[in-house]
Amino acid sequence: MGAPMSPDHVDVFRASLNRCLAASGFIESFYESFVGSSDEVREKFKNTDMKRQIKMLEDSLYVLAVAAQGGQGSPARGALPGIARRHSREDLDIRPGLYDLWLSSLIETARRHDPDFTDATEAAWRNTLSAGIEYMRSHY
Ligand code: HEM
Repeated sequence: MGAPMSPDHVDVFRASLNRCLAASGFIESFYESFVGSSDEVREKFKNTDMKRQIKMLEDSLYVLAVAAQGGQGSPARGALPGIARRHSREDLDIRPGLYDLWLSSLIETARRHDPDFTDATEAAWRNTLSAGIEYMRSHY
C-alpha cells in the first residue's frame, strides 16, 4: 500500500471520476463495454438487474479509491473483503484474468466521458485502482 495520506493520484482519479459521473451514461457505457468484451463476462451477468448494478458499480469505484488511500482505508478494512469474497471461486467465481477486461473497459469508457482525460489521468486511474484489484485477485 502507498502512503497513509491521500496520494496525489487519488485526487486526480476522484476529480476525473466526478467528471465522468457528471457526464451522462458513464456507468451504463462502462457496463455495456465490459459485458460486450467477452462471452464469459456476458454469461456472468446474465441474471443481473441492471438498475441495481449501476448504483453498485458507482459505489464500488469509491470503495476502491478509499482502499487506495492506505491507513484507515487500506484494502483489508472497509467493504473490500466482503466484495472480494462475493467474487471468489466459492461464490461468483470471477477468475483473476477478468479484472484486466474490467480495467480496460473502465479506462476506455472514462476516456470517452471525461473531457479532460490525458495520459496522466489514465495513470491516476491505474494507480488508484491497482491495489483494490490486486486485493480482489489475491482473494480469488
Ligand atoms: C475491482 C473490480 C470489481 C469491483 C470493485 C466489483 C464490485 C462489485 C460489487 C460491490 C458487487 C455487488 C456485490 C453483491 O451483490 O453484494 C458486484 C457484483 C458482481 N460483480 Fe463485480 N466487481 C469487480 C469486478 C468484477 C469482474 C471482473 C467481474 C467479471 C465478470 C464481476 C462480476 C460481477 C457479477 C456477476 C456480480 C453479481 C451481479 C448480480 O448481482 O447479478 N465483477 N461487483
